Amino acid sequence: MIIAIDGPAGSGKSTLAKNLARALGWIYLDTGAMYRALALQAQRMGIEPDDAERLSGLAQQIVLELRREADGEQRIHLNGEDITHAIRTPTISDLASRISVHKGVRNAMVAKQRALALQGSGLVAEGRDTTTVVFPNADLKIYLTASPEERARRHQHQLQLQGIEVPYEQVLREIQERDQRDRMRAESPLMEAPDAVRIVNDGWTKEQTLAYALELCRQRLGLTTPESLYGRSTTP
Ligand code: C5P
Repeated sequence: MIIAIDGPAGSGKSTLAKNLARALGWIYLDTGAMYRALALQAQRMGIEPDDAERLSGLAQQIVLELRREADGEQRIHLNGEDITHAIRTPTISDLASRISVHKGVRNAMVAKQRALALQGSGLVAEGRDTTTVVFPNADLKIYLTASPEERARRHQHQLQLQGIEVPYEQVLREIQERDQRDRMRAESPLMEAPDAVRIVNDGWTKEQTLAYALELCRQRLGLTTPESLYGRSTTP
């Protein structure tokens, strides 16, 4: 069974996908981490981000594994090496978004994502094209979104936790610019699948978003999880 989650930057889709996968005991397919892993390997090999041919070849060659460790955390391995933390740097974020525009790269990644889906019995896939391109027949599609203002507030708060002060107006402007770029790009632009359930989570905590999604899973897919996971009374 496959649940696919998409939505704009800052909507909390990674958090929801991770929490949902944990609650259901399923695999969390973090497609962004896969593009980041490729970016890391390309950087190590000195491949330029615009070298579509070498990057596409590399995307086919690398071996990526998602492993759930004893502590319950999921890790990503690149050619056998745990790179979970190494891919969370600003440089890799930037490189990942630049290499992900190449068609050959995307084709190779989509093939890997579908192959990973065949390995487990349940999968929560999250990322830009998961509801439209990778898993158009997903059992449940969620489009998670929030207003640009709400997403800017969350992002500013995250930056503050890292000791970085950025004016709210600037964070909001950057979010709006990124939305525009994501919607306009040629390869796999941000799109709301017509059959996706739209969740607008302005003012909600991550627990409330999870509870809402779990209720949706119960109603649409007949999936049940422990009552203790339901933290909110809202019903879909
Ligand atoms: O989601 P995350 O920030 O980890 O993704 C890193 C980059 O990979 C994104 O900025 C995006 O350009 C790219 N990406 C993509 N398609 C996906 C997931 C991520 O193009 N399905």
